[in-house]
Amino acid sequence: MNKIINYTIKKLDNHQKKVKKAVIKLKYLKYQNEFGEQDDDIYIVTYPKSGTTLMQMILYQLTTDGNMDFEHIYDVPPWIKNDSLLGIPPRKLKSPRLIKSHDLYKEFPATTKEKFIYIHRDGKDCAVSNWYQEINYRTTDLEFEKYILKFLNKQYNWFTFTMDWFENKRNLPILYLHYEDLINKFEYSINKVVNFLQLSSENIDMKRVYNRTRIEFMKKYETKFGDKPSKADKIYTEFIRKGKTGEGKKKFPENFSKAFDIAYKKNILPIENKISF
Ligand code: A3P
Repeated sequence: MNKIINYTIKKLDNHQKKVKKAVIKLKYLKYQNEFGEQDDDIYIVTYPKSGTTLMQMILYQLTTDGNMDFEHIYDVPPWIKNDSLLGIPPRKLKSPRLIKSHDLYKEFPATTKEKFIYIHRDGKDCAVSNWYQEINYRTTDLEFEKYILKFLNKQYNWFTFTMDWFENKRNLPILYLHYEDLINKFEYSINKVVNFLQLSSENIDMKRVYNRTRIEFMKKYETKFGDKPSKADKIYTEFIRKGKTGEGKKKFPENFSKAFDIAYKKNILPIENKISF
């Protein structure tokens, strides 16, 4: 008897998950219909923890007077998928609208009007940064190795996400930037952004853009950038964390590191080499 009950519970549970997923999709679709598209919309696309917030701040500083009066960065470049899930109606944004996204490439049709800035970060550094977010906000006792397995075994993991965006089968207008260049070759990266978006550089206070996108500056305003923790006892001061490169190489266990490198060389590097960063 219990066998039948357990079987039925499992079936209903699966069904519930599917319904939940479908509702999320529909909510987002409804939101997108209301939000619409504008010719000068700019999407910041990343795999989570690749420097999205840094790029949000760079674009905000480049396209406005850069004042820090906003309550949260999401008030200026919103994460629209998150807004749709939270039931926040489309925000009234000044043009050009800046939009944060972690959406998969396949979610953008060929008719998409907007421009995309894609930030690519070393996969191992991404994994480490994601793990810190997980232990700081949700699962405090999650072991790194267990997290890595989860990170790699996701249906759309760092590899598949990156490959699709790199392949760009629909020829969307995408500027690709390395997170590492944003840190180490700031001027070079900013010039690429300015040229890609055809911004007039006379109106830009480059010194302000530089100063206000330093990790130390953003750290001071952390509550304007961080995700809000779901439970009060979770740490709220690690969203703007270290901003270093190469942490993943040191932290990955050797067997995982080797497997990662092999998969990277086989799947990502050949496409990455064809992209001009
Ligand atoms: P670390 O956890 O490695 O420090 P995202 O915004 O996509 O969630 O990315 C978060 C990563 O970007 C974190 O990396 C965070 O510390 C880093 N970051 C945030 N602001 C930064 C800045 N101004 N300069 C450099 N790195 C920054």
